[in-house]
Amino acid sequence: MLRIGLLGCGRIGQVHARSASQIEGVTVTAVADAFPDPADALAAKTGATVLDADALIESNNVDAVVIGTPTDTHYDLIHAAARAGKAIFCEKPVDMSADRIRDCIKVVEAAGVPFMTAFNRRFDPNFANVQNRIADGEVGDVEIVTILSRDPSPPPISYIESSGGLFRDMMIHDLDMARFLLGEEPVSVYAVGASLVDPEIGKAGDVDTAAVTLTTASGKICQISNSRRANYGYDQRIEVHGSKGMLRAENMLENTVEVATEAGFRKAPAQHFFLERYEAAYRAEMAHFVEAVNNGVDIAPGITDGLRAQMLADAAASSLEQGKPISLE
Ligand SMILES: NC(=O)c1ccc[n+]([C@@H]2O[C@H](COP(=O)([O-])OP(=O)(O)OC[C@H]3O[C@@H](n4cnc5c(N)ncnc54)[C@H](O)[C@@H]3O)[C@@H](O)[C@H]2O)c1
Repeated sequence: MLRIGLLGCGRIGQVHARSASQIEGVTVTAVADAFPDPADALAAKTGATVLDADALIESNNVDAVVIGTPTDTHYDLIHAAARAGKAIFCEKPVDMSADRIRDCIKVVEAAGVPFMTAFNRRFDPNFANVQNRIADGEVGDVEIVTILSRDPSPPPISYIESSGGLFRDMMIHDLDMARFLLGEEPVSVYAVGASLVDPEIGKAGDVDTAAVTLTTASGKICQISNSRRANYGYDQRIEVHGSKGMLRAENMLENTVEVATEAGFRKAPAQHFFLERYEAAYRAEMAHFVEAVNNGVDIAPGITDGLRAQMLADAAASSLEQGKPISLE
């Protein structure tokens, strides 16, 4: 039996509430939000009690907290939950600053509580399959990883302004995926970027189109391609080239029907966005968290993975600014 308290009842909080409710032996006992309506709506769906965030974290009826609030609130909630001795599942990014994540690591380690950084893409069945096959040696030594990750359309400018920028908000998932598939830490990061989709994004100080090259100490390479726009749906593809062959995970399409006419072959667009595309991954990541907490085993990705991805995102932002590769210790 694991009793979960959910902090933040917005887009991702609702996903996690649904995933948790579907796991046997798990109950969402409490929910909290900064506003009453989202909390009441989720309480009605889950049967949870509505509490304020502090009361939820201190509640004797909560064993683990799921943090699905905006990124700038994670730091305080992590500190409070760790001090209260709760297991923590925290949305990405853990924080916008690597130094503040280091503070969180200290408090989490001092409290000895389990912590998961919600890099859901590691749990996507196809991407997990790619990683398993790398680990089994099916394509030999990994040489070049290619990650293509494009959103269907840009978020509002108000979101861009508070997002921390494309590298920390969006590419952070791909930077974690790069570490997951390379199996080695990148030691160099080179980024280029531009605002080609919407000049307003450029005026807000961000880019909407970016490419990053990572290299590891042994010379393995990862290329990441990001765009805030793809008119054919949410474009999420991975290719791994190794000494004995190649692994490729293609897009998930809205359906598998292909039509052929004299004009050629045509398929459906890619599934629209993350809620559809990663539904199975969100369920699997929550199942992993619950199983690890119940059995007292290590959680991956943990808080250090959150820090590593953040350091790569910071290096990518610096590389773009300085126009040169950045070396990491
Ligand atoms: N892993 C993924 O695929 C994924 C997808 C989307 C969002 N996220 C992350 O999830 C987090 C939330 O994003 P979202 O899109 O769900 O945002 P959202 O705005 O839809 O929801 C956030 C909710 O938290 C509430 N809130 C704000 N401050 C609070 C506080 N101190 N205590 C309790 N509730 C509070 C808000 O009222 C809102 O209802 C962000 O860190 C984001 O980066 C991850």
